[in-house]
Amino acid sequence: MPESKKTFYVTTPIYYPSGDLHIGHTYTTVAADTLTRFKKQQGYDAYMLTGTDEHGQKIQKLAEKAGVTPKAYVDKTVAKIKDLWKLMNINYSQFIRTTDPEHVKSVQKIFKRFYEQGDIYKGTYEGWYCTPCESFWTETQLVDGKCPDCGRPVERAHEEAYFFKMSKYADRLLKYIEDHPGFIQPESRKNEMINNFIKPGLQDLCVSRTSFDWGIPVDFDPGHVVYVWIDALTNYITALGYLNDKPQLMDKYWPADLHLVGKDIIRFHTIYWPIMLMALDLPLPKTIYGHGWVLLKGGKMSKSVGNVVDPVELVKKYGVDPLRYHVLKEMKYGSDGVYNEDLLVANINSDLANDLGNLLSRTIAMTVKYFGGVIPAEQAAGEYDQDLKDTAREAIETYASYMDKLDFSRALQAIWQLIGRANKYIDETEPWILGKDESQKERLAAVLYNLTETLRIVSVLIAPAMPATAEKMQKILNVPDSVQTWESIQSFGHYPLGTQVEKCAPLYPRIDVKQYEKEQAEKKKAKKTQPKQKKQKQAEPKVPGVITIDDFAKVKMRVAKVLSCEKHPNADKLLVFQLDFGDEKRQIVSGIAKWYKPEELVGKKIIACTNLKPIQLRGVDSNGMILSAEKDGNLRVLTVDGDMPEGSEVG
Ligand code: ME8
Ligand code: MG
Repeated sequence: MPESKKTFYVTTPIYYPSGDLHIGHTYTTVAADTLTRFKKQQGYDAYMLTGTDEHGQKIQKLAEKAGVTPKAYVDKTVAKIKDLWKLMNINYSQFIRTTDPEHVKSVQKIFKRFYEQGDIYKGTYEGWYCTPCESFWTETQLVDGKCPDCGRPVERAHEEAYFFKMSKYADRLLKYIEDHPGFIQPESRKNEMINNFIKPGLQDLCVSRTSFDWGIPVDFDPGHVVYVWIDALTNYITALGYLNDKPQLMDKYWPADLHLVGKDIIRFHTIYWPIMLMALDLPLPKTIYGHGWVLLKGGKMSKSVGNVVDPVELVKKYGVDPLRYHVLKEMKYGSDGVYNEDLLVANINSDLANDLGNLLSRTIAMTVKYFGGVIPAEQAAGEYDQDLKDTAREAIETYASYMDKLDFSRALQAIWQLIGRANKYIDETEPWILGKDESQKERLAAVLYNLTETLRIVSVLIAPAMPATAEKMQKILNVPDSVQTWESIQSFGHYPLGTQVEKCAPLYPRIDVKQYEKEQAEKKKAKKTQPKQKKQKQAEPKVPGVITIDDFAKVKMRVAKVLSCEKHPNADKLLVFQLDFGDEKRQIVSGIAKWYKPEELVGKKIIACTNLKPIQLRGVDSNGMILSAEKDGNLRVLTVDGDMPEGSEVG
């Protein structure tokens, strides 16, 4: 009997279909999709669940406002959510709606079981309710009289209600969390749950409502509907056929390997949900991972503030994979990430168009030029070849280990390290020079083979994060299915010899930054209604040659990391640097080629002046100036002592 495949069950939160989803929701879903594709590549039977959380007072009120029934309202918004996932190339295994009859049936049975076994009792609810969060709060939990989660006003509520005796399970939960270090991740969230919620004592949770009816009816007590969080959390098992007639998948996939959630709902997932599962005698999920917020410069994105970023617009403008890449890269492990369009444009131009796109187009162009698109020779070992192969090996291992840790940002960085190494390999091997010498034909073939093989490996590595790009690359390189697999990249050299590559257009067209900046400026101008304040005239410095602190403050200097550096294509004295300032990337041309080889400064932290007017130096854009010290014909670039993050201000 063949051994059955290992399974991996991952869930996203089920979203409130209360309007348009924004880039924050997109992040969670893209992350889950990327992980699922990665697990499938690794041979798992991976199952991804997503869906919508459709009941509750908030939806009922929105429907009333729109003048339609709640069901009509959600049918429309859910369709839009499904369209968004299609657009984002999300390959979920199941989309659950909490209005699905099978889900409703299970929730009613679960609620009844809780009641019959004494976990739920009937009482009177008196307290504060936050409708947008669908959360009850006690007087002491409020912050300045407002909802402690979202800061919005709460409403006083009195009603007959059922309560869940959470405290009954508190000790068991605490022990479970302490015995299973991987259960709540990142670690910091675990301590927050223990110290702020479990240790101070769990309150009984109000689990039914009578003041509105858009919810799952409690079948043994008409007038009551099940509290929306009890309804919502159970989706993770009702989707697998728990207590209903759907396909029976509990044995196969439960317990879940991963609930991926935002940090605002980690409390529900690490306290109420495990307790509900204990009451049902079901095993607990292996990991609950709480990611950070996608923030805008001004703070959290929120519909009420009116600063949401619409992923549909961004996809229209920039494409799906650039957006997937961007959110995965910018949301650092467990912490908040800032979204801004400038950074998205910079990522497209530098990582996608420059690094990846150029590597592909240069390799293809040379293969076509020198060999009519078919590489004839066997790969050969050479000076730079082993290092390229070693880098590929390392990149694959590093990538996989970060993917397993859900650190998508670092996983992508590992791939880009390999891409950077391959670009450097082109500079080192100088195929255009080899191409001029007939006796170097074999060496040239080996070089191009190594590059093509590296691109094949890259295509397999990026496939989970950027499936469409991977597919496109594999089509251009004509990679057979058999070597698009995870196994096939475990050793170097599986790209079949004699494969014909296809001529190709650039993988990612560069965004015209000037045009982009013009558009942004116009947008800003349109927004600005207030007249500009007149600038105060500054006092002239009194001593010649002496400047005021204000003069000095005009010069903006920041720490940057050197991402890469190349020779200027048509000036021997110049080097072209790609610099990372943390929140932005820049290209700066510097006249220091006499003192530095291009690779010498890569990875170093340097200081650059960032508010000089951008110029072109021999046809190449330069945006800023790298600081250096010079004496008697010697020059050294100023580097930073110790560990200062990119973007730190100098002054
Ligand atoms: O909470 N950045 O649904 P929801 C990152 N129905 N993530 C964000 C975000 C942002 N700016 N804004 C929202 C619910 N999210 C419940 C879930 S699960 C049984 C029920 C994330 O539509 C948020 O953290 O309000 C949450 O994980 C998810 O989007 C759904 O939010
Ligand atoms: Mg929310």
